[in-house]
Amino acid sequence: MDPIQNNDQKVIWTIGGGKGGSGKSFITANIGVCLAELGARVILIDADLGGANLHTFLGISPPSHTLSDFIKKRVADLREVIIPTGIPNLQLLTGAEDLLNAADAKSVQRRKLLRSIQTLEGDYIFVDLGAGNSLSVLDFFLMSDGGILMVTPEPTSIENTYRFLKSAFYRRLKQTVSSYRVKTLIEGAMDRKNEMGIRSPQDLFQAVMDVDEGEAKRMLEETESFRPNLILNQVRSKKDIEIGFAIRSACQKYFGLRLHYLGYVVFDQEVSDSIRKRRPLVLENARSRAAQCVREIAYKLADLRIDSSGMKGSRTEDEQVES
Ligand SMILES: Nc1ncnc2c1ncn2[C@@H]1O[C@H](COP(=O)(O)OP(=O)(O)O)[C@@H](O)[C@H]1O
Ligand SMILES: [Mg+2]
Repeated sequence: MDPIQNNDQKVIWTIGGGKGGSGKSFITANIGVCLAELGARVILIDADLGGANLHTFLGISPPSHTLSDFIKKRVADLREVIIPTGIPNLQLLTGAEDLLNAADAKSVQRRKLLRSIQTLEGDYIFVDLGAGNSLSVLDFFLMSDGGILMVTPEPTSIENTYRFLKSAFYRRLKQTVSSYRVKTLIEGAMDRKNEMGIRSPQDLFQAVMDVDEGEAKRMLEETESFRPNLILNQVRSKKDIEIGFAIRSACQKYFGLRLHYLGYVVFDQEVSDSIRKRRPLVLENARSRAAQCVREIAYKLADLRIDSSGMKGSRTEDEQVES
């Protein structure tokens, strides 16, 4: 499925994957503040089921108006449920989990929600997806302009990231092809113990190639244009930083995917201190190491532009992470 195209320069980022506690909300809130400080109009959307707490990172009370009011038609305009944060250029919308995780939420409804979000006046929209791996979350991740995976340098977090990526990757491939036979092959590949002997994406491409060369070509094109992004959080050593590169190499080798390593944020006690004070770290302690890391990533995002083939950076990603 193609990402919904923007007519204007608005960019919708989603932040997901990883585990609960990996720092998705912390980084979403603080990147939002950094971009708002630059003068961009930023809207944060809290879509974390049962764990909506972006407001706390921004020092505001749980909003009384949520997206549910819009979905249930208690308010007519999505703009009525957006609340100011007290920080210039930064607004917040909560309650997207209602639609994102509802068992009966259809893809049509999700697209409708995305379209409504598209009508919002802003330059950047960040959707905190929470840790879920549901089809709704995957679709939202795939339909946005750029999906960011949050990972910490622990094996459990890395495992979750691969699992999320694998689900998103196969789902995207399935949405790309139209042949029923090929869709069945992809479904089979998602089950590692499938009887067709498909153990890797390469096996899958080969199997599809044997039945439909055109679909195999489309799948390859889709693989090339799918560029998920990665942020490594709570980094404690130089060796930890390398994990981002290792994940990127593994994705290239296994899936044939070009993962974009946006950068890392160091583990810093100041993060926790700022949350206790309910103040965004980049405002509370702008000189802290973690704040500087977040700011650097925010500036990279400001530098990136979306084109029809996916993400395009103004510098190469190695330069971006290593500089
Ligand atoms: N870079 C960091 N350094 C130190 N602690 C961090 C860092 N990032 C996140 N944390 C801690 O992890 C906790 C969970 O972060 P949060 O953003 O709520 O995770 P998520 O939204 O992924 O569940 C925070 O309360 C904070 O104490
Ligand atoms: Mg969270």
